Amino acid sequence: MDQIEVLRWRGLVARIEPLTLAHLDEVLVIERESHKTPWTEKNFRDSIMGNHGCIALLLNDSISAYAIYSEVAGEIELLLFVVARRYWRSGLGYAFLSHVVENVFSNAESVFLEVRESNIAAQKLYEKVGFNQVGMRKNYYRLASAKEQDTFDLEDAILYAMEMVEKPS
Ligand SMILES: CC(C)(COP(=O)(O)OP(=O)(O)OC[C@H]1O[C@@H](n2cnc3c(N)ncnc32)[C@H](O)[C@@H]1OP(=O)(O)O)[C@@H](O)C(=O)NCCC(=O)NCCS
Repeated sequence: MDQIEVLRWRGLVARIEPLTLAHLDEVLVIERESHKTPWTEKNFRDSIMGNHGCIALLLNDSISAYAIYSEVAGEIELLLFVVARRYWRSGLGYAFLSHVVENVFSNAESVFLEVRESNIAAQKLYEKVGFNQVGMRKNYYRLASAKEQDTFDLEDAILYAMEMVEKPS
């Protein structure tokens, strides 16, 4: 997306705009308090400077949520979707993701994403927005073990998808 959009949420007006390098400091703080394996500054720079879609949601001029996605041949992969911790369970994630799906992803054929098996909050959110569970990826996530440096905690990913275009029957 390259234009600014408005999202009305609980009597507030949120701004949806491209995530840029100017947002990086704020995003990195949110990222580190949100994930077991936060994206690094380099990950964000590569996405912003590369060809990923990077979207920020701002409330009162502060970053409140962001989404990063790739698009290849009409197929979108949602790579990252995060709401700032202070807004968790407020309905903001649902409002933002619904807006993104309806307004930013609307021309795609399909959208898919992976989520940790233990991340129940995200699974419920994706299901509420209309994604369907379509598969599993065994041992998809690797996290260096805190106890022994040469071992890894492995976790399965659940694969979700949403078809955006009705296929002719
Ligand atoms: C997952 C996340 C985006 C949810 O955002 P949110 O703003 O808290 O979500 P909402 O308040 O809009 O909740 C939408 C639905 O998600 C589910 N949900 C959200 N948080 C939940 C929790 N802690 N436990 C169970 N279900 C939860 C509920 O079904 C909820 O619907 P309901 O309010 O009708 O019950 C947020 O917790 C987050 O940013 N987590 C860290 C990053 C992350 O895990 N991202 C996803 C993988 S990249």
